[in-house]
Amino acid sequence: MSFDSKVVIVTGASSGIGAAIAIAFAKESANVIIVGRNEENLRKVAKQCEINNRIPYVINADITNENDTKRIIDETINKFNKLDILVNNAGILRTVDLSKDDNIMENYDEVMKTNVRSVVDLTRLATPFLIQSKGNIINISSISGRKVFRGQNTLYCMSKAALDHYMRGMAITLGKYGVRVNNVSPGPVKTDIFARAGITASFEEMGFKTLLDRLGEPEEIADIVIFLASDKAKGVTGSIYTSDNGYLLCMQQ
Ligand SMILES: NC(=O)c1ccc[n+]([C@@H]2O[C@H](COP(=O)([O-])OP(=O)(O)OC[C@H]3O[C@@H](n4cnc5c(N)ncnc54)[C@H](OP(=O)(O)O)[C@@H]3O)[C@@H](O)[C@H]2O)c1
Repeated sequence: MSFDSKVVIVTGASSGIGAAIAIAFAKESANVIIVGRNEENLRKVAKQCEINNRIPYVINADITNENDTKRIIDETINKFNKLDILVNNAGILRTVDLSKDDNIMENYDEVMKTNVRSVVDLTRLATPFLIQSKGNIINISSISGRKVFRGQNTLYCMSKAALDHYMRGMAITLGKYGVRVNNVSPGPVKTDIFARAGITASFEEMGFKTLLDRLGEPEEIADIVIFLASDKAKGVTGSIYTSDNGYLLCMQQ
């Protein structure tokens, strides 16, 4: 499943799932553009992407800033002359007590701007080039888009539900151009997303229960992205691929 000569943008590639996705594409000989804000983390991931004599192209950008999203696409096209795959992975979790005015509107704006608005913005800018290449788009959603597990995560769940619907609309819109659009929905994956949301509990203390009695690793999500982005998935569009160790089903037991 080689991606030789393919040009792939991965947002939020400085950490967690995005880093694993970038490294997986680099292993498949793709030209990877890694996007994030944390310079030091970007440098570390870039080093890990130096595989098959390729150096990843690093763009330090805040995807909530429209000048930055324009720069991401402009620099990609200037450097590689095309775009084949857009992976909208960057995302944040915020926990809010909706029964109190716990900075609800600030958190709402931040979550929706990062998890939804920036995806719409970057995708809009990438679309003409993806139509040209008959490329594809993969968004990293979450099983939280299908179920609200904890009231404090509601804003995040809303953002992922919106992302699932956006994917469907884009799949319908771009199908006639041969552009596929899919979402990957992980259950709990061992990354820093919880700590960054101010959650100090360990994964054990958070008490996730799954059918397989394990949590996901970023590399497993990357494997699904690689499959969906490849020609092996040429008939797959408008789909949500779930990798949650059976978490959703477990919650119904
Ligand atoms: N971990 C899970 O359990 C889980 C489950 C389901 C879905 N997901 C989804 O998976 C995706 C990746 O999350 P993760 O778990 O890998 O979390 P993570 O380790 O915290 O990584 C988040 C990434 O998003 C980037 N990011 C956030 N805001 C950004 C902004 N404004 N501009 C540019 N980059 C930004 C961060 O980059 P910088 O720090 O460099 O800014 C970082 O690279 C998210 O969409 C998340 O919702 C995660």
